[in-house]
Amino acid sequence: MRYDQARWADEDRYEPLLIEKRSETVEIDDAPLPEELTRDELTMAAPAEPELARHYTRLSQETYGVDSGPFPLGSCTMKYNPALLERVASDENAAVHPDRPDESVQGTLEVMATLQEWLGRIGGMDAVTLQPPAGAAGEYTGLLITRAYHEQRGEDRTEVVVPDSAHGTNFASAAMAGFDVVELPSGDDGRVNLEALEAAVGEETAALMLTNPNTLGLFERDIETVTEVVHDAGGLVYYDGANLNALLGQARPGDMGFDVMHYNVHKTFATPHGGGGPGAGPVGVREDLAPYLPAPHVRETDGGTYERYEPAHSIGKVHGFEGNWLVLLKAYAYIRRLGDEGLADASAKAVLNANYLAERIDFEVPYGPFHHEFVASAGDRDAADVAKHMLDHGVHPPTTKWPELVEEALMVEPTEAESRETLDLLVAAFDAAGDADADALESAPHRTTASRIDQVAAARSPRLSWRALDDGGSRTDP
Ligand SMILES: Cc1ncc(COP(=O)(O)O)c(C=O)c1O
Repeated sequence: MRYDQARWADEDRYEPLLIEKRSETVEIDDAPLPEELTRDELTMAAPAEPELARHYTRLSQETYGVDSGPFPLGSCTMKYNPALLERVASDENAAVHPDRPDESVQGTLEVMATLQEWLGRIGGMDAVTLQPPAGAAGEYTGLLITRAYHEQRGEDRTEVVVPDSAHGTNFASAAMAGFDVVELPSGDDGRVNLEALEAAVGEETAALMLTNPNTLGLFERDIETVTEVVHDAGGLVYYDGANLNALLGQARPGDMGFDVMHYNVHKTFATPHGGGGPGAGPVGVREDLAPYLPAPHVRETDGGTYERYEPAHSIGKVHGFEGNWLVLLKAYAYIRRLGDEGLADASAKAVLNANYLAERIDFEVPYGPFHHEFVASAGDRDAADVAKHMLDHGVHPPTTKWPELVEEALMVEPTEAESRETLDLLVAAFDAAGDADADALESAPHRTTASRIDQVAAARSPRLSWRALDDGGSRTDP
């Protein structure tokens, strides 16, 4: 496919900021605030409505999203977000003020309680909090619950065991929750090595964090033994729900022996990704951990009404109120729309699509059999160059260089939402990168709005405000 992304300005400039197009300076009246916090005038963008509409349309044409084409970013589960969910969340009755008394928001609380119950049923968990605002925040919450649980039992457990194939947030969440991180080397087959696990766990172990299928897409065949080993040592087993899209209606973490888990609703139930928030990362726990859940928690009373309350040993708040409610409402609508059969079908198709794609591409896939995602190797090519080259073919590339178990990793997760034709488009993009010579790979992409950007400067010195430009900086200055 010939692909050209929009370019709406000169060679070296993208769509200008609104304030660069048209601005006006307004005077500010006296404010009852300290002088150092106020200013006398403010320069603001002043576009006419058509300029505004075109500005945002152009920006959307200069970027790439799941509404533009396939987005097989492994581990991220970039599934298409149906427009219906936006409609549900934008209903004027949906956004009730969180400070309203319980008796005046019974419908909202009922939907929250129902979502808690459905998530519990899907994950095999006894109680669920909706409060954490992202998967990583869910990990942190789950680990605070783990800490509180051990403390309540008078046990001082200081270590969390994390496999080397785990997502970086697992290590970070464990450290942020005050634990020492013990890294668990994977076995030769890419799964948990039971001998290494037995050597790693002991009296100090508070928890093992694991995702299943793991980040190579491999199902942990010995999962029941894994959870038993940790339980025998007195630890809990935490399920990183990032890969739950492989299991919906097929298997449940709770039945495998996991005690605590988070759900990335943006990866599994088609809500938008929040980039660390404002998303949602509900946490599920087994029954005896429910008293530690964050407050407020929602429950149905004996009289059939709904109320917010503080669980007996609550770890407190990890976010305001009941979490990002309108994001959660989208997850509710998605689950309700698909039902049991639809959810199971989504996972089955996610697995089928990954297997179809892996079979069709010419890159080596060293580990398998896998489920909803797989990790191919770019071999002697640079995985980042392969990814940049794929951009010129109108697709988003896979995740690159992670997990490090695979040389020049290309981590591919097509999701259930893509048709066979779209998967073939991805195959063509992989083929083109596989056939490209070194020059073509290193200079790509050519057909996108922006070519190679300075990723290090963008990450280390982001210019997130127009004021940085106003102060004389440029878009590309680090
Ligand atoms: C395996 C895994 N665990 C945890 C996370 C963290 O989730 P979130 O992005 O919702 O914070 C991710 C995110 O990509 C992930 O892939």
